[in-house]
Amino acid sequence: MTRIDTSVDVMLRVNGSARRLRLDTRVTLLDALRDELDLTGTKKGCDQGACGACTVLLDGKRVLSCLTLTAQCDGRDVTTIEGLAPDGRLHPVQEAFIRHDGFQCGYCTTGQIVSAVALLQEGRAGSDEEIREFMSGNLCRCGAYPNIVAAIREIAGRGSE
Ligand code: FES
Ligand code: FES
Repeated sequence: MTRIDTSVDVMLRVNGSARRLRLDTRVTLLDALRDELDLTGTKKGCDQGACGACTVLLDGKRVLSCLTLTAQCDGRDVTTIEGLAPDGRLHPVQEAFIRHDGFQCGYCTTGQIVSAVALLQEGRAGSDEEIREFMSGNLCRCGAYPNIVAAIREIAGRGSE
């Protein structure tokens, strides 16, 4: 039986560096990041688009990497949690999560932080309600939600409500 080669060449710009990959057309961005590029900060929770643990930025916009095919990302910019602290200095949102105890087990945290960075850039942190609404795709089994909102609120510069 003849096997059909379904692999494809893809060039991604990941956290500012060009990365060339040859992989099957069905490989998700999440698996490419974790298994091919060893960027394991992006977590696999549900692998079905329901939890937000796999959130990364694609051309500056947040996407669920478990629902994104790597082949669709050819020539595009990907930013993962590792890219938010490239020189080892924490991103201000990471520092705020630490100050406000915005995590417990930490499994959802990288997705929460990447999502929060995008939310702030989108200008969607005008109120706690807005933060909750636009972070609603990022689930936390540990229920750290109030502290996550407090961390984002601090960076949005709104003080406490
Ligand atoms: S792992 Fe992607 S949404 Fe849950
Ligand atoms: S800190 Fe445990 S799932 Fe969010």
